[in-house]
Amino acid sequence: MADGAKQKLLIRTLKGERGERPPFWYMRQAGRYLPEYRELRARMGGFWDLVFSPEQAAAATLQPLERFGMDAAILFSDILVIPHALGQEVSFHPKVGPVMGPLDLAAPNLGLSRDHTAERLALIFETIRIVKTKLPEDKALIGFAGSPWTVITYMVEGKGRPEKEETRTFWREDRQRFERLIDEVVEATVVYLEHQIEAGAEALQLFDSWAGALQGDEFEALCIAPTRRITSALKKRHPGVPLIGYPKGVGRRTKAYFEDSGVDAVSIDWQTDPVWAANELQPLGCVQGNLEPALLAGGGEAMLKAAEHILRTFANGPHVFNLGHGITPDVPPENVAELSAFLRGWRREGSKAAQ
Ligand code: CP3
Repeated sequence: MADGAKQKLLIRTLKGERGERPPFWYMRQAGRYLPEYRELRARMGGFWDLVFSPEQAAAATLQPLERFGMDAAILFSDILVIPHALGQEVSFHPKVGPVMGPLDLAAPNLGLSRDHTAERLALIFETIRIVKTKLPEDKALIGFAGSPWTVITYMVEGKGRPEKEETRTFWREDRQRFERLIDEVVEATVVYLEHQIEAGAEALQLFDSWAGALQGDEFEALCIAPTRRITSALKKRHPGVPLIGYPKGVGRRTKAYFEDSGVDAVSIDWQTDPVWAANELQPLGCVQGNLEPALLAGGGEAMLKAAEHILRTFANGPHVFNLGHGITPDVPPENVAELSAFLRGWRREGSKAAQ
């Protein structure tokens, strides 16, 4: 394509090209480890107040880029805006995390309605439009949503235990009602993501943070299949927008996920061996990852050595540098600055010198 060369580094790489260096960004790059985020958050009151204030949410989206110059911003929002849009109560409590209101299990659609999804999330699309007016032209904006399974675990059990027993039991014992819940979340998520694209998101990530809890046939039914419904709906209308999937904790099942879910790129967690991923996943497309967040918290030589190992291991195929999970609030911003400078200066062997 004639304009292919003009595409941003992140977008080209997600589509399978190898640029002069891997682009980088960090999951949860906006947040409490940044003093300017804590200041903004304190000024706004509640977390939802910040998410639904477009000017301020746009500022939170751009804060990490202003400091560290990542190749992409990720929209400041949350995966739990979907239950909120469907009519479930969601609130955030300091030190507790999200607290969900009960689902109405007696109602045919569990008391949820997807009729007002776009209206209820309209302020988030406004955030995207504002970010796009301020984003440097070589940086991309990533939109996102939770994958249905992960969102549903919060809807059913709030934070719950890592095994997600309650949600898995619900699926085994009340299949019909559970399928309704999947339908609601899939349909609302497609609407949400289509509007993100229309407002200016250039790539999308689906976070399946609790995919690792799934056992046996649950993995296909509850992780891969609902993800595929979303990717195929999006690809019909927006085939050029790359989709990244992040199925955390699934180990070697990542390969089946990459083959069958319809994503263009797969984000791997920090427990996944990069050598295995380079051999088994990169031939299928772009791989994103996978520095351990604790190494970023520790900083110094150990962090840079691990980053270099990742860069060298993925050097023969398309790679987006990222963490293996989100930045934690204890990460010193200086370490993020040091890692970012290292990644910006990195050049793939055989590629042209820094421009
Ligand atoms: O830079 C970014 O990535 C900002 C956008 C973003 C947030 N949450 C903001 C946020 C993204 C991409 C998320 C994803 C998210 N949210 C996931 C998937 C990624 C992962 O970490 O596994 C999940 C599971 C959630 C649900 C969620 N939201 C939890 C469990 C919590 C509380 C725990 C915590 O980290 O604080 C949130 C709140 C939340 N979402 C905060 C931020 C910045 C902290 C809220 C605050 O300021 O008090």
